[in-house]
Amino acid sequence: MASDSGGVTRRLPPPYDANPELGALVVGEDELRQRVAELGRQITADYAGGQLLLVGVLKGAFVFMSDLCRAIDLPVEFDFMAVASYGSSTRTSGVVRIVKDLDLDLAGRHVLLVEDIVDSGLTLSYLRRNLLARQPASLAVCSLLVREGEGVDDLNLTYTGFRISPDFVVGYGLDLDQRYRNLPFVCTVAGGSETDRRS
Ligand code: IMP
Ligand code: MG
Repeated sequence: MASDSGGVTRRLPPPYDANPELGALVVGEDELRQRVAELGRQITADYAGGQLLLVGVLKGAFVFMSDLCRAIDLPVEFDFMAVASYGSSTRTSGVVRIVKDLDLDLAGRHVLLVEDIVDSGLTLSYLRRNLLARQPASLAVCSLLVREGEGVDDLNLTYTGFRISPDFVVGYGLDLDQRYRNLPFVCTVAGGSETDRRS
């Protein structure tokens, strides 16, 4: 869907191409804008006549969520949750600690969980269980990015922006040690490896 399919490396637009820490373009600004608009239309149609509670997973989802919500033409409420995962810096263990819990009661609400990226899916499966226990009227998941491979088909993602290759990526909310969340596109980091994953 995105990126360097066919093995073609896409260069970053200037002035970002001069940054030696950044690698290749994975999802460009125009592609993000178009896909977010499509997701917004789809969500608007799927929940027509209803109300929606968007739950963003901090910090990574805040950029995507702020664009997505403006592409949804429905009464929308917002809440946020922050999680930290135990385990090594390169791999989530699936044991997740809630750093900031929701303010709203989910009971009876139609909840759409908004994520930046689903990698192993361990964080998502924890969050799904946690949120379902609060008895929402429904629970769906929208992730901007999904990393290809590893059991992603089992994750029951309702809405997906782009499927991407194993490289570590930054931008549009995603960080490398808290930096680069404000890049207007998604790109790899120079010399980044598949296993170099921090959240
Ligand atoms: P999972 O539990 O393995 O699915 O990990 C998901 C979380 O890991 C995401 O919400 C991100 O915070 C972080 N993460 C995974 N891959 C990347 C990446 O390529 N860049 C930035 N953060 C990432
Ligand atoms: Mg995250």
